[in-house]
Amino acid sequence: MNSTEKKLSRGTFSGHLGYVLAAAGSAVGLGNIWRFPYLAARYGGGIFLLVYVLLAVTFGYAMIISETSIGRMTSKSPVGAFSQFGKSGLLKTGGWINAIIPMLIVPYYSVIGGWVCKYLFEYIKGSTQAMAQDGFFGSFIGNPFSTELFFVIFALAMSAVILAGVNNGIEKVSKVMMPLLAVLALVVACFSVTRNGALAGVKYFFIPNFSNFSWMTVVAALGQMFYSLSIAMGILITYGSYMKKSVDIEKTTVQVIGFDSLVAVLAGLMIIPAVFAFSGGDPKALNAGPSLMFVTIPKVFAQMHAGRIVGILFFVLVLFAALTSAISLMECAVSTLCDVLKWKRGFACIVMTLFIFALGSLSSLGFSSLSFVKIFGMDILDFFDFLTNSIMMPLAALLIFYLVVRRIGLAKIAEEVEGSSSFKMKKLYNFVIKFVAPVFIAVILASSIASLLGFKI
Ligand code: PHE
Repeated sequence: MNSTEKKLSRGTFSGHLGYVLAAAGSAVGLGNIWRFPYLAARYGGGIFLLVYVLLAVTFGYAMIISETSIGRMTSKSPVGAFSQFGKSGLLKTGGWINAIIPMLIVPYYSVIGGWVCKYLFEYIKGSTQAMAQDGFFGSFIGNPFSTELFFVIFALAMSAVILAGVNNGIEKVSKVMMPLLAVLALVVACFSVTRNGALAGVKYFFIPNFSNFSWMTVVAALGQMFYSLSIAMGILITYGSYMKKSVDIEKTTVQVIGFDSLVAVLAGLMIIPAVFAFSGGDPKALNAGPSLMFVTIPKVFAQMHAGRIVGILFFVLVLFAALTSAISLMECAVSTLCDVLKWKRGFACIVMTLFIFALGSLSSLGFSSLSFVKIFGMDILDFFDFLTNSIMMPLAALLIFYLVVRRIGLAKIAEEVEGSSSFKMKKLYNFVIKFVAPVFIAVILASSIASLLGFKI
């Protein structure tokens, strides 16, 4: 299928709302609810939040505008879009790295999706109190059978949606589920911040304390920004290619960043104050990493009157947010396989699903049967997360800057954006993309590689 046919068969987004929902559906996911709080807890609380917000409104903004414009002007997914502007090795790499990142993320993303399924299942069963006990999560991820089972359930659900191609249905359900998720997060956050001792957590999360700052705060915040906004991985290039010319790119960008950040902050408010309430801000608890949400949230729910119901509702919504994001990852991977290798969609889906089983199982078993495997000192899942977010995405971002500044030219990007808006922040955009972002991201990339090689930064 060539890209025009694909575009016709998948259709364009219905308009402003359709695009925002799809982009926000991709953006809001486990990154906001599971990943953001544990990074904020680990890398300095308020200072992490501050760095994150600054990065999102400058770099994040510039990246989303760039990717969406590239997609819309070329009507192609990343590999095709890059090659439209030349055949150099640098451009080829740019297209491919953007296309490969989602393929590497979706397997371990599905593992975490599986953890969410397990928690939903346990709340339905009524294990509210048992789940709040120390060690519940540890014994779950240490059980290879159970983690694999739930991982496979999540991955199959995701593949089924992609195969059935029920994109429209997802758009409709998103309209209800996304706001509902935000409201429920607000309710849980209110409950969480009013626990005894939680106030210290609110302060830790909101008040920047410069003594908590380290270079890793910036590295982690940048990786999180890419991840959470679904940028530097070709998704928004692909989505931009389905966007109508009349849709205001600038406005949609601001809305997506706003909604995504709001959900992240609410998730932080649900989880970080609860860590303080239950552990008194013990550094070990703050450093828990990927397990943080799965350990603290059940403790909060166990204290609520309707804990079981809230638990069910919460994990249904998280599961939905995770599915919409996972679908966007898989959709990109599948569309690249169809475009480049000329595979049929069904076949590409099956191959991708098998690939997810294989790679995801490594991440999943990395906490049980394969726990002796450490890559650069990290668990397998952590390693894939670090590799994609801290190394490949900055690299992809640099190549996008190169494409925009050297090959396409800022004037053409401006023309694309101005086709539907007045491009109020053009000066900021040009400044960030030409001078600040490339240097900054190159430094971050170098420091990520240094930390991977064991240099202390
Ligand atoms: N942005 C999604 C989240 O926050 C994750 C994701 C990453 C989705 C990359 C698509 C692409 O969970």
